[in-house]
Amino acid sequence: MLMPTIKIDGKSIEVEPGQMLIEAAESVDVTVPRFCYHKKLSIAANCRMCLVEVEGAPKVVPACATPVSDGMVVNTRSTKAITAQKAVMEFLLINHPLDCPICDQGGQCELQDVAMGYGSDLSTFSEGKRAVPDQDIGPLIQTEMTRCIHCTRCVRFGDEVAGIREMGATGRGEHVRIGTFLEKSIDSNLSGNVIDLCPVGALTSKPFRYRARAWEMTERDAVASHDCLGSNVHVHIRRNVVQRVAPRENEVLNEVWLSDRDRFSYEGYNSSERLSQPQIKVDGEWKTVCWEKALSHVANKTASIAQASGPDALGFIASPNATVEEAYLLQKIARFIGTNNVDHRLRLADTSAQTAMPQMPTIGITMPELEQAECVVIIGGNINDEVPLIAQRLRKAALAGAKIFLVDIDPRDQIFDVAGVIPVSELDYVKVINDLVGDQGTADYKALREALNASQKKHILLGCALQEHPDFGAVTMAAKQLADKVGATYGFVTSGANTAGVSLAGCLPHRAVGGATVPNPGLSALEMFKNPRKAYWVLGNEPEHDSLEPITALSALEQAEFVVCVSPFLSATMHSYADVVLPMALPYETAGAFISGTGQWQNFTAGTDGPGETKPAWKILRVLGNLLEVPGCDYLNTQMVRAAIRSEVESVDFRPESVAVNSATKFESSKLYCLPYVPQYSVDGVVRRATSLQKTHSAVQARVVRLSAEAAKAQNLTDGQMVSVKQNEETQAICLPCQIDVSLPANAVVLPWAIKESIVLRAPYQTVEIQPA
Ligand code: SF4
Ligand code: FES
Repeated sequence: MLMPTIKIDGKSIEVEPGQMLIEAAESVDVTVPRFCYHKKLSIAANCRMCLVEVEGAPKVVPACATPVSDGMVVNTRSTKAITAQKAVMEFLLINHPLDCPICDQGGQCELQDVAMGYGSDLSTFSEGKRAVPDQDIGPLIQTEMTRCIHCTRCVRFGDEVAGIREMGATGRGEHVRIGTFLEKSIDSNLSGNVIDLCPVGALTSKPFRYRARAWEMTERDAVASHDCLGSNVHVHIRRNVVQRVAPRENEVLNEVWLSDRDRFSYEGYNSSERLSQPQIKVDGEWKTVCWEKALSHVANKTASIAQASGPDALGFIASPNATVEEAYLLQKIARFIGTNNVDHRLRLADTSAQTAMPQMPTIGITMPELEQAECVVIIGGNINDEVPLIAQRLRKAALAGAKIFLVDIDPRDQIFDVAGVIPVSELDYVKVINDLVGDQGTADYKALREALNASQKKHILLGCALQEHPDFGAVTMAAKQLADKVGATYGFVTSGANTAGVSLAGCLPHRAVGGATVPNPGLSALEMFKNPRKAYWVLGNEPEHDSLEPITALSALEQAEFVVCVSPFLSATMHSYADVVLPMALPYETAGAFISGTGQWQNFTAGTDGPGETKPAWKILRVLGNLLEVPGCDYLNTQMVRAAIRSEVESVDFRPESVAVNSATKFESSKLYCLPYVPQYSVDGVVRRATSLQKTHSAVQARVVRLSAEAAKAQNLTDGQMVSVKQNEETQAICLPCQIDVSLPANAVVLPWAIKESIVLRAPYQTVEIQPA
């Protein structure tokens, strides 16, 4: 195809047909000033800042909305163009308050930058400036709407990307107002992106307000650690304190966006519960000690328990947020001691098909491929909460015509159009999937099958919440069968930032590094708690919140003879069960690698030090390895650890087993069952301590017992009433307000896991009794 050729500021270039002048100019490093244009949003052409001169055109034209045509001669810096740009700038500044000294956007403001180039020193405007009252739109975004220049980027973002139209423009001319229509909070979990989009200081970060100036902070590249996408971020640090987090562009992962969880969870880094010095418990009293003493105590005590009671008396519990290096070293120590009791799958209910799992469980598709998919089936997971930016990619796919289906017990509203929902009303996923495979079921099943069969690019995605189902193994096998039958790709939304990497590093009871089979598989995390061990090493997690069965984990830890917690935080609960606490660095404070949910290795270095005597966990484990005389544990840096992992992975001929597993659980329609729900702002210790996220509508709304209309009716319960839910005689009740949800199966009660109150909970999918509190 013949490419059009144009000339911009004297430079001849070949351009894509249909490309806008502003993009063509950028390709030859000519920057045209702009406010409303953004490469990821539709064209509004309402600010007029990008006016340029096109030879032969009677008037200047907006570069963002003028497509190229062959032979065009464009001047962005001619007198005519600059006069027009300066005139627009003057109009924009008429009502702008020019309060840069007290504006958080100062120093990083597009208006300020462009005004330096095109603004005038003196204003000829002598009338009163317009003032616009602010709105309180929630705990994350601060408004100063007098500064708004009506570019509508925030409005288009809600409409086009986030899928929730929360901001809008009202009024005309000088009376245009941008805001939420009813002064309500913005509830999208992608809302923070408007902070980056707003070219002025009208929308800024509330948690960051007045904390630091842009030029006072250093910027470090990092990888977000709260979902399996591994969004790329910039961490902004001042005086060794993380002040804010912003997206770092990566087209194949997060594009230019960031979820609110990844953006605002940094507040957890500065929590008052950060552990800063090693402590050991001596005769029931906590003592702060030096690292040397703490580490030798851990090594001696671990060795003596292994010798006295056998290595299997030990349990090693990692976090899916551990780096590849941390996970590798932990399993290396465990296996040297002689046990395979090492795991990171704290929420996994069923290991019956674990040998059939991939070497690295991933989403099974890249983000650009997902965006191109024609049909996607999501089984058992609320993708909006689990990985907001995967939901956003699915939204793009749906807008391009993809058909997206949900197969779920508890289908929730999504930011993309859903072509069909197959409710799992009997709580039995295997039956539903088998019906899909076996050409059974209602018209909805048929529609899903037809969509899959009619599509070339199709994907089956198992949600993260599915791992908590007691028949997870059978569900994965059934879903694989469905994928094979229709020729679809298949993958998992996994826990934390690094399930793929931690699995590859061998932090599993049945597989060593690279997925190598181990002769005597150890216990899974759940089994280690159900069959209490004499000693535990807990790395980077809080089992009382992060486990499938909080109370089981807690009681196992409380009765253990020796518990070592390598942890960034120290809560009162951890103090009650631990015997040694060792302060570990969080991801922005350490070097290491994560493997994203798309299988991409992402290495990072430390941006800052943790508080006090915090150390990177890989260093803590390396020294413990040395003290326990683990051979070859003399790594000087994370590159050396990674090299060791890679060489071991290369020597493994990995093959997943094919296993036949049937659904083992029978659910009775006459009984009430509790379903687990991990709220999006409770997924890990950092997020749980991010105070602003905890004030969001989503976090507050999650603290309810959701129950079916039938269950509410049976107990005469009304919306908002306090209820008490009890799992069995031995467990304490959880008391929260109830919320009636007509979309739930009649015998379902959804309880929030990983919040303070849920520490009393045992296994999900068990029968419960509910009554007014
Ligand atoms: S608030 Fe900011 S992003 Fe929204 S219209 Fe105003 S200037 Fe543009
Ligand atoms: S950037 Fe072109 S009109 Fe606003």
